[in-house]
Amino acid sequence: MMRRHFRYSAGLTFCLLLLFSGSLALAEDTVCLQCHAALEGRLSAPVSAWQTSIHAQNGISCPDCHGGDPTDFAMAMSPARGFLGVPKYGEVPAFCGRCHVGVKDDYLNSAHGKALNSGGPQCVSCHGNHGVQQASLELINPTACSRCHEFGRAAEIKTAMGETDRMIAGLRTELASLARLGIRVREIEGEAFALRNDSHRLFHTVEVEKVRKETAAFQQRGDGIGGEIGAIQDELGDRKLIGVGVVGMLLLISIICFLIRKTYQQDEDAQRQSSED
Ligand code: HEC
Ligand code: HEC
Ligand code: HEC
Ligand code: HEC
Ligand code: HEC
Repeated sequence: MMRRHFRYSAGLTFCLLLLFSGSLALAEDTVCLQCHAALEGRLSAPVSAWQTSIHAQNGISCPDCHGGDPTDFAMAMSPARGFLGVPKYGEVPAFCGRCHVGVKDDYLNSAHGKALNSGGPQCVSCHGNHGVQQASLELINPTACSRCHEFGRAAEIKTAMGETDRMIAGLRTELASLARLGIRVREIEGEAFALRNDSHRLFHTVEVEKVRKETAAFQQRGDGIGGEIGAIQDELGDRKLIGVGVVGMLLLISIICFLIRKTYQQDEDAQRQSSED
């Protein structure tokens, strides 16, 4: 018992050490992180916020956004090594849009993008800067959106986009249960994934009319995918019926065979008895 306990705690310590060295390795990856983690206030706050972000999870670190040389302590923030510094309010869409090109274009063409230099919000107003998390419709809420105008139009967008989200979630559940039965649904899954991507791009246009029209089109695409899933489910149902039929027939045949054999055997027995007599 003691021994087993020891082995458990040794194993646990080893795992903890692995985890710890893993996070240390991550934290000491670049000179940017090493130096900034040791600074204070507005200079170290980005490090802890970034560590929780979807960017950290995907390997996007300080120099990917700010430029500079992540391997050289002395020259890290030299413009000669590509350091970009901190973007001003109006420069943020281009700064983030280097990687999120589609979103940036939709945003720049929107009412928000057009108001960028006259009170409109930009990427950081809604997503934050260093602590960016996975995006969802939860970002649309009265606290975030009513700072500058009424929530009414925002609510309409959220309701329409929520419908599409729920529809896609439903399709994905049905696809998953088909996949569990070993049925190949890769292509249909691809269609559902494309539908999800297209619908998630829609928000940045912030055009209520467009969102309404596109939501109707998305519902149609969803109905199409639902039809394909329904056809597979029907076929499965048919196959089950045929299966039940076949099993029934086999059962019937074996009962008949049994009865015939029994009759022959009775005949034979009767013959044997009469010959013995
Ligand atoms: C040796 C320590 C050290 C290293 C290495 C370092 N920084 Fe800094 N960083 C600082 C200090 C100190 C400041 C504040 C003074 C200043 O702006 O020069 C700063 C400021 C900044 C700022 C704000 C600049 C502004 O105009 O307010 C950014 C952004 C930044 N660093 C990013 C980076 C990135 C990206 C890297 C890696 C490529 C990096 N730093 C590497 C110490 C460092
Ligand atoms: C996803 C892109 C992105 C990443 C990754 C990123 N930053 Fe930033 N950073 C920004 C933006 C955008 C601003 C401008 C802040 C604003 O407008 O709110 C900024 C501002 C700053 C500032 C100035 C803060 C102030 O209050 O003056 C510092 C310092 C800084 N970043 C350091 C870092 C360090 C260190 C890292 C790595 C841990 C990092 N950044 C990673 C986008 C990024
Ligand atoms: C160097 C490239 C790069 C830059 C610059 C960049 N990002 Fe990202 N961003 C990524 C990658 C990679 C991901 C993770 C993969 C994905 O979801 O697209 C991501 C994910 C995101 C997500 C979550 C997407 C989702 O699927 O929910 C948001 C929101 C986001 N970034 C916003 C920003 C904002 C705001 C800025 C500017 C402050 C920014 N990004 C700058 C590369 C970048
Ligand atoms: C007015 C608020 C707002 C502004 C401004 C804004 N976003 Fe978003 N963003 C959202 C919301 C809300 C979603 C979630 C949409 C959804 O779930 O369908 C989102 C989703 C995203 C996604 C995920 C898209 C996907 O395909 O899953 C990325 C990446 C992103 N935004 C980046 C940016 C960048 C870069 C900018 C600046 C050019 C920006 N956002 C400006 C609110 C905003
Ligand atoms: C920093 C201020 C600010 C914030 C925060 C903000 N908006 Fe806006 N929004 C504007 C401005 C400016 C306009 C353009 C003038 C107008 O139509 O009121 C606008 C317009 C709109 C429109 C109308 C677009 C059109 O073409 O008719 C919608 C919808 C909208 N915003 C939704 C949102 C949502 C959703 C959020 C929260 C995720 C949000 N806004 C957050 C400033 C803001």
